[in-house]
Amino acid sequence: MHKNSGKRVGIVGAGNVGATVAYSLAMQGSCHEIILRDNKVDIAKGKALDMSQAASAIRSHTVVKVAEDMSQLVDCDVVVVTAGSPRLPGMSRDDLLMTNAKITKEVAQGIAKYSPNAIIIMVSNPLDAMTYVALRESGFEANRVVGMAGILDSSRMASFIQEKLGYGGGQIRASVMGGHGDDMVPLPRYSTVAGVPLSDLLSQEEIDEVVERTRHGGAEIVGYLKTGSAYYAPAKSTSIMVEAILKDTKQIHPCAVYLDGEYGYKDVVSGVPVMLGANGVEKIIEVTLNDKEKAMFKQSCDSVKKLIDTLNKNNFFEDQ
Ligand code: 2OP
Repeated sequence: MHKNSGKRVGIVGAGNVGATVAYSLAMQGSCHEIILRDNKVDIAKGKALDMSQAASAIRSHTVVKVAEDMSQLVDCDVVVVTAGSPRLPGMSRDDLLMTNAKITKEVAQGIAKYSPNAIIIMVSNPLDAMTYVALRESGFEANRVVGMAGILDSSRMASFIQEKLGYGGGQIRASVMGGHGDDMVPLPRYSTVAGVPLSDLLSQEEIDEVVERTRHGGAEIVGYLKTGSAYYAPAKSTSIMVEAILKDTKQIHPCAVYLDGEYGYKDVVSGVPVMLGANGVEKIIEVTLNDKEKAMFKQSCDSVKKLIDTLNKNNFFEDQ
């Protein structure tokens, strides 16, 4: 009945985002087994039992278990990494760089050891830099390490468009490229409502407002939650990526990937449309950008490069 019944998904970090990814996957019966890994083992155990019981309630076959350490996160097909400090009010995603890079390093090395064939989906912030760290520290090929951000950012943009218009819900295709930072690149020119270009529906001023709100969509939620950052949309966006990989859909999603010459950039991670399938990132799509969009994409890539430079200056990649 379930095509993906043999699949195992590991989730490192069972906080709000990780646990909600697990719940979403369990409710969809996307895989046979979900393994939660968190330093707070008892909390993870409680959540795993709770979710397995929810799966039973809907007659799903998915079971949720706990890995007490990385060595129990064995032979996963996909591992989602949400471990790290979340964003708090007044913090930018970049403020988390050093703390989360150290955690990501340890986790990526553990995944390489115990789930050597997995596809890694990075979720921890600062997202693009952490995707870069996971790639370097796992030693995996670039197609097997991908970051979640574009689906989230474009969903936020779509939701803001719907709010502005007051109609069109479920028919909006919004497009956001670049890094998951304050200089991400929302692309109104490639955003439509049922195929109608945004510029035929909203004024330039309204479009500018949507773009600005999208750029600060994460901070808007942190401002309300105060003790952490968003998790429903981040988790759903992540589970969409997990499913695309497990089901080998070959559909296009905006994701953070290592660029090796695409768009004219090398040795950096940024958000671009990619085709996701059983082998992870199976194709990087190069969208035609105009000069203004290219300049914004450059600024966003430069910001990510700065973070990678900071890691290099601190000899982060050398002390292994
Ligand atoms: C967000 O955008 C904090 O990156 C997280 O909600």
